[in-house]
Amino acid sequence: GGLITLDPGYKNTGSCESAITFLNGEEGILRYRGYAIEELADNASFLEVAYLLIFGELPTQQQLDKLYADIKRESNVDEEMKKILDGFPKSAHPMGVLSSLTSALIAFNPSAVNVDSEEDMYNAIIKLLAKFPVLVAWTLRKRQGQPLDYGDSSLGYVENILKMMFKKPSENYEVDPVVASALNKLLILHADHEQNCSTSTVRIVGSSHAGLFASISAGISALWGPLHGGANQAVIEMLEGIKQDGGDTKKYMKKAKDKNDPFRLMGFGHRVYKNFDPRAKIIKKSADEVLGKLGVQDPVLDIAKGLEKEALEDSYFVDRKLYPNVDFYSGIIYRALGIPTEMFTVMFALGRLPGWIAQWREMRLKKEPIGRPRQVYTGENLRSFKPMSNR
Ligand code: CMC
Repeated sequence: GGLITLDPGYKNTGSCESAITFLNGEEGILRYRGYAIEELADNASFLEVAYLLIFGELPTQQQLDKLYADIKRESNVDEEMKKILDGFPKSAHPMGVLSSLTSALIAFNPSAVNVDSEEDMYNAIIKLLAKFPVLVAWTLRKRQGQPLDYGDSSLGYVENILKMMFKKPSENYEVDPVVASALNKLLILHADHEQNCSTSTVRIVGSSHAGLFASISAGISALWGPLHGGANQAVIEMLEGIKQDGGDTKKYMKKAKDKNDPFRLMGFGHRVYKNFDPRAKIIKKSADEVLGKLGVQDPVLDIAKGLEKEALEDSYFVDRKLYPNVDFYSGIIYRALGIPTEMFTVMFALGRLPGWIAQWREMRLKKEPIGRPRQVYTGENLRSFKPMSNR
């Protein structure tokens, strides 16, 4: 073979051309289809952003209405799926449950697997946008021992998700607009982030022409890890741990800098952002606002702010250009909204879904070749088989 360029972690290798998300890590710029993330977070609904990412333009009212009507028509999940959910122990991690259920959807929606035309693709996408929030809500309700619910189709997409998650059986659940607006913003901020680990996974699995649901299920597994989406859960667990240990942030700063200690400051650092993460900036401000409006006092927010301040003044973090990332403050908001810690990464997946779909669709429409990296072999040269008695 020819000369192979080695780039572990793909730090400098582009895997595709994409017209979806623009990211400039030096200047902290993030845009979806040319629109600044700050503007979208303040003005758009999550469903509008989903349309924008997937189809390339902000929808007209008519286009948005049609999208949501199509989604509502597909929002039932096969009753048999409840049995699969039932089979999991209550203690199962919601991310494992979510990826399994997403995979299981294939069995009940076989028409969504072979998607060769744009119309087939559209139908598969609608099914997923419709059923995924139901699965998300079910993972939470399963964990909390609540009966499953399909929500209320008279509500907006995000409001309905909240109701599906939180409505207690005999309760007249009213969606709190502060909560809905905070969740809407968080979902938008997570909606795409170009070729990150889970999105690359979705594209590479999809490149073998495995269907959309299988590709997304793989993406969920990739997102689960603490170096990626799982960081939001890890951040709160870290902050809680620091609080219980007396709130000594200096001690943990020292641990994070010690190369013999595996401890890392979760929610800090990013492969691409080397100045600041624009999402973190918005989320930090939003955390203050949301906690204020909801009247929630969370001592963990003070620990987070203390850690951030210390890190930003510390040469270890400054030299390595380590700044708070999207996950540093998001968990504090999720918590204030009443979402349990083990569900944080599931909420990230819910937000990232439109991005994964958009990237998968772009990859298929461009008829990209199967993803198949090369390697540099470092093992043994040819040797003769050794009989068992000689080993
Ligand atoms: N705490 C302490 N040291 C760190 C941290 C951290 N959080 N992050 C990076 N470093 C150090 C690292 O040890 C290395 O030091 P040295 O050059 O002395 O060996 C240097 O900074 C560069 O780090 P790296 O691991 O080579 O950078 P990477 O681009 O491979 O990793 C990262 C990026 C996000 C995986 C990493 O910064 C990290 O593990 N952060 C904590 C987990 C986290 O918050 N992840 C969420 C990422 S944002 C949400 C998302 O998109 O998933």
